[in-house]
Amino acid sequence: MTQRPLSLYALCGSQRQASTSLRLLEALRLVSPEGISIEICDLIGNLPIFNPDHEGDRTPPTVKTLAAKIRDADGLIVSCPEYAHGIPGGFKNALDWLVSRDEVPFKPLMFAHASHRGDLVLEQLTEVLRTMSLRIVPEAFLRVPLAGKSDEAQAMVLAEAQRTGALQAGLDRFVQAIRASV
Ligand SMILES: Cc1cc2nc3c(=O)[nH]c(=O)nc-3n(C[C@H](O)[C@H](O)[C@H](O)COP(=O)(O)O)c2cc1C
Repeated sequence: MTQRPLSLYALCGSQRQASTSLRLLEALRLVSPEGISIEICDLIGNLPIFNPDHEGDRTPPTVKTLAAKIRDADGLIVSCPEYAHGIPGGFKNALDWLVSRDEVPFKPLMFAHASHRGDLVLEQLTEVLRTMSLRIVPEAFLRVPLAGKSDEAQAMVLAEAQRTGALQAGLDRFVQAIRASV
């Protein structure tokens, strides 16, 4: 039986051009099998600062676009660095815009973590995202240590993760969890 294609929406917590978190998301996009598409969100850096007075009729267009992308996605992939033992402000701002809306509850979510460190941000994101009723899929957790490495070293780590099938395995476990829930 042919399975329905799935679309995943990837959210990066770093705005850096040379972000390792973004690089990991791009690597996942490159290994995604036929029938699984991954779009990487480029809206987070353009969101205004969250203000509850600007929800409802006054919701900014970028927030509406982000929310629509999330609504249409079968699952979310989050790759977020740790800043000062916490969630980077820009990423938390994006989450705050989504808290009171109906797009995120029960949406499956996978963490793709690009650092050998940063366990505190994972803990904090888990708390925040669970509070927002997202469905984190723990067995899909993927850690590929790119942070702090040269461009060349990152390419080697990613090539190895691809060769061993680690990237594909994380994605597969996420896809299986999504398919099992529908
Ligand atoms: C302002 C700032 C604060 C940081 N604080 C932490 C931290 O508390 N813990 C940690 O493990 N790394 C910390 N880092 C390192 C980043 O997590 C690391 O550089 C990561 O690669 C950044 O992600 P990116 O490459 O996707 O931009 C910090 C980096 C910056 C710029």
